[in-house]
Amino acid sequence: MKRAKIAGTGSYVPLNRMTNDDMSNLVETSDEWIASRTGIRERRISTGENTSDLAYEAGVRALQASGLTAMDIDLIICATISPDSFMPSVACMVQERLGATRAAAFDLSAACSGLIYGMACASSFIETGMYQNILVIGAETLSKTLDWTDRSTCVLFGDGAGAVILSPSDTGKGISFIQLLSDGSKQDYLCLPAMPLRNPLIQEENSQSQVITMKGQEVFKFAVRSITDHINTVLKNMELSSVDIKYIITHQANYRIIEQAAKSSKIPMDKFYMNLDRYGNTSAATIGIALDEMAQNDMIQSGDKLILVGFGGGMTSGAVLVEWD
Ligand code: UT7
Repeated sequence: MKRAKIAGTGSYVPLNRMTNDDMSNLVETSDEWIASRTGIRERRISTGENTSDLAYEAGVRALQASGLTAMDIDLIICATISPDSFMPSVACMVQERLGATRAAAFDLSAACSGLIYGMACASSFIETGMYQNILVIGAETLSKTLDWTDRSTCVLFGDGAGAVILSPSDTGKGISFIQLLSDGSKQDYLCLPAMPLRNPLIQEENSQSQVITMKGQEVFKFAVRSITDHINTVLKNMELSSVDIKYIITHQANYRIIEQAAKSSKIPMDKFYMNLDRYGNTSAATIGIALDEMAQNDMIQSGDKLILVGFGGGMTSGAVLVEWD
């Protein structure tokens, strides 16, 4: 059984920047409030590109980084909660645009944990030998899901896409531990309704609006606990200490969440990579964008061990231990 390694990373964000000052022209807020409560300074907001456009661009860049061609790809998984359409899937749209005609393709819904869930699926397919090269993309245009009059949510999110290509490792390095968790009893913490039930048998109109709503403080506590528990589980199961870990890349939602998780797991903050000041929370895309930035800046060398941790609506969470190949 061969482990899956990360063979390439890619990311793409829309050009258009929206700063905290720009947000204060829309809702009653300030750069001071947003930056001090969340760490976010600006986010990218699409002026026309949809989720499949961002996903495609991230996929192209991941392919280039891996040295593979579209025809080498066996499977495309796109994690998203903001697809262009329920059908066709974003993954099928990307497959067509890449010309990855050999690939199977599907979307996956695990909110901000989506890339971790996608990597877990891909890793398992590779370990069984069913597939060789798998493109996993986390892509979102959350800007279309926001209530732009609700200052408690609209300042937090942004648009973007991050991608990884997983392939079999010949060195024994790669993904050695995966943990996925879900807790449906907390489903009301973060919600984004889909189409309301509507048919000739239903009399009353459902006026539920299709925007993100959130119990911010509950999500905050869940996130700190999840990150801490996942890190401890990875370290314990793999008989490692935090000294053995080069970087921890968590879902980028809030600087204070990561700070509190660092404190409760007793790991120095400088091991936690952060870029949420520039992109805000791009849901399934954050971890892929962060990984790609780190790879491009030569921050990760062969043999470095990374823990990736996601958490999000569902509630869902997950962690992956990767040894860079
Ligand atoms: O992928 C997961 C996505 N979700 C998250 O990561 C959310 C996690 N939670 C959080 O990050 C924090 O709970 C928030 C940043 C959302 C909120 O921070 P908080 O410290 O929990 O603030 P709060 O909800 O307790 O609100 C404090 C005050 C309230 O005013 P009053 O009632 O004290 O007068 C809010 O109305 O801050 C007000 N407020 C704002 N003020 C200026 C809420 N949003 C804003 C805003 N600008 N954007």
